[in-house]
Amino acid sequence: MTTEILTLDPSYPSEADLKEAGEIIKRGGLVAFPTETVYGLGGNALDPSASRKIYSAKGRPSDNPLIVHIADMEALGLIAAEVPRAALEAAKIFWPGPLTMIFRKTDAVPKETTGGLDTVAVRMPSSPIAAGLIRAGGGYIAAPSANLSGRPSPTRAAHVIEDMDGRIDMIIDGGDSDIGLESTIVDMTGPVPTILRPGFISRHMLSDVIGEVVVDPALREGAAEDVRPRAPGMKYRHYAPRAPLYIVEGRADAVRRRIRELLGEAKDKGLNAVVLASEESAEAYAEMTASEGDGGGDPGQVISLGRASDGDDIGHNLYDALRKCDELEAGVIYSEAFDVPKARDAIMNRLLKAAGHNVIKADDVR
Ligand code: TXA
Ligand code: MG
Repeated sequence: MTTEILTLDPSYPSEADLKEAGEIIKRGGLVAFPTETVYGLGGNALDPSASRKIYSAKGRPSDNPLIVHIADMEALGLIAAEVPRAALEAAKIFWPGPLTMIFRKTDAVPKETTGGLDTVAVRMPSSPIAAGLIRAGGGYIAAPSANLSGRPSPTRAAHVIEDMDGRIDMIIDGGDSDIGLESTIVDMTGPVPTILRPGFISRHMLSDVIGEVVVDPALREGAAEDVRPRAPGMKYRHYAPRAPLYIVEGRADAVRRRIRELLGEAKDKGLNAVVLASEESAEAYAEMTASEGDGGGDPGQVISLGRASDGDDIGHNLYDALRKCDELEAGVIYSEAFDVPKARDAIMNRLLKAAGHNVIKADDVR
């Protein structure tokens, strides 16, 4: 299959621009498109054969349900059997935006789309291209992140082309995704709204609007391995670069020292090591190397994700950095733990999953 690449202005896509893409969706084809979180791989959510195509293009297990994207509140009635008050209040504040809510589903939504579940995940994205495509495509687009299953989610069109070229009908290039991490998922079907996947919309932001919100116990740091997450997708190793990834945590200076030691050990083993770090640490590594002179250790390849004080920047750059590790043919990856303001929970959730929960404590007495 030849994949058409369509480049659009992310702020002003016209109806004419999106007509052909909408036709592809309506006739059961697949179009990857930008959203404010990550790129999505879209197909008609009400068409079981389109959903099957999505699973096969991604290589995704078919028990892992898709999110249905809508463009206005009127669309919700056809697919959600019951919309509790808290969900309406959250929608008023956070839609369109990076929030996905789970409802009991109606018969209009095929089981192929929901991975066999009786519930449906719904999101109203704010990106103008996404909203325009949903309208042009008939109002209901099922879209997982547009990566091959297990790979980091795509935050720019080049990432989607890497994974999906030749597998789908069209890729819309609308520049970088703003946020760079997938939406917050909240289950609205129980007595208390429950976060199943942390994202840009934090628990605090939600509870300011809708009162009590809890977090799926399986997501808590240190949760036992056998506690099953309620979002099926959260159980898979995910977001992962090819090389083993270790997170080094502790006080900033101890982390830097430990990473320097690990780099030395990797070098002795002939491993190509890549470090993911804050801008401040990247500068510190460069200084350490300079002060050690020629006899000093190799600084390795350090990828800076942004200033430690800027959670938004680090979230925005995380998936691109994980993909770069593959491009650099890393043999091993060491990442700092990012104790940043705001997006911390979302960033560390993705990073811990990418690392298969391999954590090295820098302060350990050895
Ligand atoms: O930001 C996002 O949410 C992006 C963009 C494209 O909108 N989409 C996305 O989709 O991240 P995906 O398929 O990569 O992740 C969907 C997650 C999976 O973990 C899945 O298990 C969970 O949502 N999910 C979907 N429907 C569910 C349901 N009915 N109950 C529980 N979890 C559900
Ligand atoms: Mg995904």
